[in-house]
Amino acid sequence: MARFGADPHKFFASVYDAAAPWDIGVPQPALTQLIAEFPLTEPVLDVGSGQGDLSIWIARQGLKVLGVEFVPAAVELARERAASLPAELAGNVEFRIADALRPSALGLQFGSIVDSGFYHLFEPQQCERFAAELSAALRPGGRYYLLAFAVDLPSPDVPRGITDAELQRHFAARDRWKTLALRSAEFVSRVGSIPAICACFERTL
Ligand SMILES: C[S@@+](CC[C@H](N)C(=O)[O-])C[C@H]1O[C@@H](n2cnc3c(N)ncnc32)[C@H](O)[C@@H]1O
Repeated sequence: MARFGADPHKFFASVYDAAAPWDIGVPQPALTQLIAEFPLTEPVLDVGSGQGDLSIWIARQGLKVLGVEFVPAAVELARERAASLPAELAGNVEFRIADALRPSALGLQFGSIVDSGFYHLFEPQQCERFAAELSAALRPGGRYYLLAFAVDLPSPDVPRGITDAELQRHFAARDRWKTLALRSAEFVSRVGSIPAICACFERTL
């Protein structure tokens, strides 16, 4: 992840010293809309779960969800926010400090994997390996939901723009992926909305 310097963990940890630009207090609307169209199956994995709002929203729907994040301060914030869940739903969500690039190392199989601004942090070769990891961690018939920037911004330390063509290459039919949705969207941040790409891929049987 060269774009975030020699030590990406240190970079992301420093972002959580203040409100992160992606912390809008609610899950990304483009993703909740996509999930409404293509329902989740539990257990759900939230890769790079950050401050936890998407995981908490999923737990509120009555589904079991595991948020994986490598910055301890983000996990702490997510656990604080999850404390607002009613007692009967509190057990639906867990946050764990781990490398979300390696979901297969969690030793679990998931019905769905949600990705709100994680994939676009990495270079194409890492993303190719990540797609193979997702395939290994998803049950047959399981779904991967993604929201990523669609533009390259002229600033340092920002995610890269993701194209339809790249996603179609990494989630191809020959690798047992079926495209359920692939479209333009917006990624809402504290400083404005960024043109984005939103997709849902299903791992075929
Ligand atoms: C753009 S933020 C998105 C956070 C959250 N999903 C959201 O939509 O608001 C990306 C998150 O991925 C985390 N992250 C980056 N690389 C990671 C890795 N290898 N393993 C786990 N988390 C990682 C960052 O710390 C950050 O919280």
